[in-house]
Amino acid sequence: MSHSPDQSDQPRRSFMVQAAAAGTGAIAGVVPACIGAAYFLDPLLRSKATADSSTPVGEMGEGFLPITKLESLPSDGTPRAFKVIADLQDAWNKFPQTEIGSVYLSRSESGEISCFNARCPHLGCTVQYKDGDQKYVCPCHDSAFNVDGTRNNEIPPRDLDTLEVKKDDSGTVWVKFQKFRAGTSEKKPV
Ligand code: FES
Repeated sequence: MSHSPDQSDQPRRSFMVQAAAAGTGAIAGVVPACIGAAYFLDPLLRSKATADSSTPVGEMGEGFLPITKLESLPSDGTPRAFKVIADLQDAWNKFPQTEIGSVYLSRSESGEISCFNARCPHLGCTVQYKDGDQKYVCPCHDSAFNVDGTRNNEIPPRDLDTLEVKKDDSGTVWVKFQKFRAGTSEKKPV
């Protein structure tokens, strides 16, 4: 007995419809997964090629950041305070022109430039230079430092933290800005 072509093709057609549906479903699932993976992985990959989390990007390299012009520093050694501004970048975002700390710069009569991180090595408050007393004092627990950065009393565990300084041909003063662990006698970068 002959059977109609429609009846014999039905199982095969049904199988093909199911296979097509399964394939479409798989593609629909895989594509968003790939997009999602790329979204999450790309910033991570980029972070390896650019900078560590919240790393300042110095134009001179080696972490040096432009702070001021030489002529803004008194030539008699009186320290001046400056904010340190940097473009930061982590794995996800850029933070342009962000204040990351402050420093004191001074220029001696012989032209030598010195720099201290303004962060108190006791517990991390910001020290202030008192012109009249010619010393740095910390408003938090009364640490005091001489104008050359050495301790003036026994409260801080070490002297003020010195930072590397460079001057370029245009007269811009650059500082290699670093933070150091507070509360220890050793100067350890953090
Ligand atoms: S943080 Fe400066 S004296 Fe304590």
